[in-house]
Amino acid sequence: MKSPSSSTIFTLFSFLFLSSFQTITLADSHQNFLQCLSLHSENNATSNISQVIYTENNSSFSSILEFSIRNFRFSTPTTPKPLVIITPSQVSHIQEAIICSQKHGIQIRIRSGGHDYEALSYVSDVPFVILDLIYLSEISIDGENKTAWVQSGATIGQLYYRIAEKSKTLAFPAGVCPTVGVGGHFSGGGYGFLLRKFGLAADNVVDALLIDVKGQLLDRKSMGEDLFWAIRGGGGASFGVILAWKINLVTVPSTLTVFTVHRTLEQNATKIVDKWQYVADKLPEDLYIRLYLTRSNSSSGRTTIRATFECLFLGGVDFLVPLMQQSLPELGLEKSDCIEMSWIDSILYFAGFQGESMDVLLSRTPTSFDTFKAKSDYVKEPIPETAFEGVYERFYEQEAESAVMIFIPYGGIMNEISESETPFPHRAGNIYKIQHLVYWQGGGDEEAERHINWIRRLYSYMAPFVSKNPRAAYMNYRDLDVGTNNNKGYTSFKQGSVWGFKYFKNNFNRLVHVKTMVDPGNFFRNEQSIPPIYSRKKKVD
Ligand code: FDA
Repeated sequence: MKSPSSSTIFTLFSFLFLSSFQTITLADSHQNFLQCLSLHSENNATSNISQVIYTENNSSFSSILEFSIRNFRFSTPTTPKPLVIITPSQVSHIQEAIICSQKHGIQIRIRSGGHDYEALSYVSDVPFVILDLIYLSEISIDGENKTAWVQSGATIGQLYYRIAEKSKTLAFPAGVCPTVGVGGHFSGGGYGFLLRKFGLAADNVVDALLIDVKGQLLDRKSMGEDLFWAIRGGGGASFGVILAWKINLVTVPSTLTVFTVHRTLEQNATKIVDKWQYVADKLPEDLYIRLYLTRSNSSSGRTTIRATFECLFLGGVDFLVPLMQQSLPELGLEKSDCIEMSWIDSILYFAGFQGESMDVLLSRTPTSFDTFKAKSDYVKEPIPETAFEGVYERFYEQEAESAVMIFIPYGGIMNEISESETPFPHRAGNIYKIQHLVYWQGGGDEEAERHINWIRRLYSYMAPFVSKNPRAAYMNYRDLDVGTNNNKGYTSFKQGSVWGFKYFKNNFNRLVHVKTMVDPGNFFRNEQSIPPIYSRKKKVD
């Protein structure tokens, strides 16, 4: 065997030296960060921050980390772990965390409900701390003025519960899954079955409390209209830590109607889906019918495709059935398919808790623990009937056993809100949005790769049929495939715009402007945070 050359020895030595140096500096900045926090807390008689800090040495560290992980793709032994988790119970804890992590070059990841599809709230490829807002979850409802203040760490289920406690006819237009966190959901848009009547959660926000890069607590007035605009759909994590939101509640009838109807290919599913595309966005805004496609077994036991139509109607069954017979007779809806109920019962119904007490909405534990990858698309022209054949072919592939395509109708009030009203630009001109999803059970990296490749193939296949220039996407269905920043350092406008225009269209320019004003040093950053224009950070920090 040849003896190693002096240059090989030098390279090896340099590598070992640099690795140990990096380990020492990382350990140092970790220790310095903790010392900084304790120093701040000594100087502040009411700060008991030491009680809400968890390091790896703490026995609760793993359970706190895992409690709000909602995609098990990011809960593996190799998933990077935070140096520290802080679960603030008061504003000063957030302020201290922001100041100290800035001082010691540690990245902050802000987590409210932990539903980020790509785990940006609890994973990073550089040293990081998690600011987990789970205990900042107060909700106060003002029934008389039809408003509420809700802290970011609350879930939308908890919000729905508190609204229903006060009134049978007040509601809020947000998402379907009750464990979704208010912090990420509102700041990225947030929609559910009331979308066509009342718009997004973000459209109904009227004030907010945010802690900025300097540690200042700001409300709408003191943060100014630009920043207040940015956090209603532009993603909170680029701009600061949003502590709480003031929202307008909406009024709904005391009796609503729901239905869930399944049709397989043998029951004419393709024809019904095709017709749905022509009517779903033009129906009265009181009527919301979403549909989803899955693989299924037909009555003869053959593998087939099933279209499921789910509807919420803001009125009674006697109005709904004739309306359906007139607008989508192909579905063959009958009165017996429909159930009348209150708004809060419709929340339970669509969340899979039909007939259960509304107490289940207070739980933060989901009913299933999923491993998945998702993507989104916007549809501006009906997809030709023949194109569905190609979709079905992909659904028959092995990886698609638990795949689903969800079609979410637009129109209604979404057509009336301008593209630039909030950073969320997907308004008039969209018939519907598609969410592509594939789930699988564990199985390690190989299984993950197979399923992720499957959804990427489906996404490529869909390209001719969906929005173009940009191929638009919904930021709350985070997808790092649409482009990423350099999380370790400087990201140019050009690099950011690759993904930024897909989520925000031309609103990306204003978001960059706001970011440049409020966080020019790019402290609040992640793989898809808005880059400031003039940030000239060194390549690696
Ligand atoms: P999480 O805590 O992971 O945060 C998401 C992002 O927001 C991260 O970048 C995070 O740093 C940032 N962030 C969170 N809190 C912040 C704060 N206080 N200040 C600043 N930044 C903050 N969407 C939808 O519109 N309708 C729906 O029906 C559903 N349904 C649904 C079901 C399930 C099972 C999942 C997993 C997801 C959804 N979503 C959804 C998507 C959901 O709206 C999206 O993932 C939200 O960002 C989740 O917000 P969380 O606070 O739970 O996530």
